[in-house]
Amino acid sequence: MRDGIVIRPARAEDGEAIDQVIRAAFASTEFGHQGEAELLRMIEADGDVMVSLVAEADGVAVGHVLFSQMDVEADGRAIAAAGLAPVSVVPDRQGQGVGDALIRAGLNALRDQGVAMSFVLGHESYYPRFGYSPDLAARFASPFAGPHFMAMMLDSNAAWPQGGRADYARAFGRLG
Ligand SMILES: CC(C)(COP(=O)(O)OP(=O)(O)OC[C@H]1O[C@@H](n2cnc3c(N)ncnc32)[C@H](O)[C@@H]1OP(=O)(O)O)[C@@H](O)C(=O)NCCC(=O)NCCS
Repeated sequence: MRDGIVIRPARAEDGEAIDQVIRAAFASTEFGHQGEAELLRMIEADGDVMVSLVAEADGVAVGHVLFSQMDVEADGRAIAAAGLAPVSVVPDRQGQGVGDALIRAGLNALRDQGVAMSFVLGHESYYPRFGYSPDLAARFASPFAGPHFMAMMLDSNAAWPQGGRADYARAFGRLG
């Protein structure tokens, strides 16, 4: 892993450190922090966390990624799917591949759990490198439908469903 960065599962005692990583990362964006740390707390309280990983440098948390349980129906059947959000890297570590490593490790953890699909709402220049496609997401009815809504099959050999519906974890519906 690059420059001594270690990716590991989040632990219960990481709560405060993850909170700070999320706040610092989003404070650096043009939109500012919009409740992403609170979102994580709600997803945890609901029991909807599928994968939560921390990136550590010299024992200090510098990044975090969460994948939460979605409610997805594909071709008339419920399938296991995970929403990627939020992903955060502290400002002085951005652009060094930490986010990339977190997302790839998270996708592999989901594959190990037998999860079929992942969705993300994000920048169309970033997420396609991991396999996310707006064309696949466009087959799914969602409140988030649009050019930033992307989806991927976690088994890249799996056929794309013809259509369906995709809803994020309950906590997303409670965002102000
Ligand atoms: C988005 C984020 C997690 C990426 O992590 P990172 O470690 O900085 O990214 P990596 O080093 O793996 O990848 C760098 C690439 O991401 C791109 N990138 C970084 N932040 C981006 C953003 N907010 N929008 C679009 N692209 C972004 C860079 O341009 C770079 O692209 P390139 O490889 O084509 O040059 C991190 O920048 C961050 O925490 N940003 C603030 C919070 C945020 O916007 N999270 C995403 C929304 S949930």
